[in-house]
Amino acid sequence: MNEQNIFSQYIQKHSVFRDKRTLSSNFVPERIQHRGEEIQILGSIIAPVLKGFHSNNIFVYGTCGTGKTICTKYVLGQLVEILGTHGRDIKPIYINCKMKKIADTEYRLFAQLLREFGETVPDTGLPTDVLYRKFFEKIDSGKNEVIIVLDEIDALFRKIGDDFLYNLTRINSELKQSHIMIIGITNDLSFREALDLRVKSSLSEEEIIFKPYNAAQLKDILEERASAGFATGSVGDSVLGKCAALAAQEHGDARRALDLLRVAGEMADRLGDGIVEERHVDMAEYKIDMDRIVETVKSQPRQSQAVLHSIIKISQKTALQKQWSDRRMLTGDVFDAYAGICASVGMKPLTQRRISDLIAELDMLGIITAKVVSNGRYGRTREIRLAINDNAAQKVDAILAERFSA
Ligand SMILES: Nc1ncnc2c1ncn2[C@@H]1O[C@H](COP(=O)(O)OP(=O)(O)OP(=O)(O)O)[C@@H](O)[C@H]1O
Ligand SMILES: [Mg+2]
Repeated sequence: MNEQNIFSQYIQKHSVFRDKRTLSSNFVPERIQHRGEEIQILGSIIAPVLKGFHSNNIFVYGTCGTGKTICTKYVLGQLVEILGTHGRDIKPIYINCKMKKIADTEYRLFAQLLREFGETVPDTGLPTDVLYRKFFEKIDSGKNEVIIVLDEIDALFRKIGDDFLYNLTRINSELKQSHIMIIGITNDLSFREALDLRVKSSLSEEEIIFKPYNAAQLKDILEERASAGFATGSVGDSVLGKCAALAAQEHGDARRALDLLRVAGEMADRLGDGIVEERHVDMAEYKIDMDRIVETVKSQPRQSQAVLHSIIKISQKTALQKQWSDRRMLTGDVFDAYAGICASVGMKPLTQRRISDLIAELDMLGIITAKVVSNGRYGRTREIRLAINDNAAQKVDAILAERFSA
């Protein structure tokens, strides 16, 4: 046995972090930078409620990590602060539609809204329209201005369609004393086209777009977080610049920039290097991408995993001379391999048409690319190849091989 405790090496080495929490994306920073204009506009659209007038609904759009959530919460916080001194009956309610048990069904949403008004509602049991009526009566029992923020509203739509939104947008025409304002937030515009036209136009009475941050803006954001999060002298300017540049190249995503910086710090700590360097950022990028791919694959339904498993299998077969990801195949090849997997594990195969849909979904997730090509007199098919590197494919393969071992 070694005489030294295996942990003593970690205790002796000093950590690059001072307070890692400040580098996590849940942390609320004291200052929001480079969003002064968006915050002003949000405030000015909401402001009429302070004078007893109705405010328009707002649709907030921007790609991920552009500060939509943090800015909206900030503005609501400011509103609550001033309400304390003015005492109007304005009630802001924030709902993250991705939250399980809150926004999974129309029932749960109305139950949550009622709870915000101090009502107790059973988890199940009542008809939804009874809850709707209760909610209606509750808010119309006085003169209330209710502001409902539906963050990640696209997730709500995907889970329960637009009935809830329809009811919510129509409710104002029936309310006698009160009024509801809706702030819908999303990073996915595509769902809007599928909305009922009346819901769509009602939700977008006002629109605010959050643009991606550029590298300089991201660097400012990182600097502030780094000075609180890292020990003095343990992270240099070039590291911050690199995280900002990488994140700006993608979507101008502040969450990505923060993740890169935090994970780079973790890499430096794990290696006992004492300071964070650019090479740790490269490692962080690799790790984050790998984790994301693995998480995505794990969360796919079994049928989709079987399709991906067949694509990887085919890629491997002729990989001897090439990189796996260079190998192209057609939908038919995938279908044959997939049918083989189904047979070996006793799973009922889906139709080729459904497999095409699953292939398109894997393409959207960035795990494969599937290009529509003409296949002579057989019509059109898809040319498919892996969009992840060989290391990631190997890792995914190991997970899927275990899942589909007969
Ligand atoms: N201007 C900013 N100043 C400081 N921190 C910021 C700023 N913008 C974003 N952040 C930080 O970046 C992270 C992502 O921001 P936020 O959650 O607001 O993005 P989002 O636009 O809502 O993204 P998504 O569409 O993925 O929900 C948060 O940790 C937030 O603290
Ligand atoms: Mg958000």
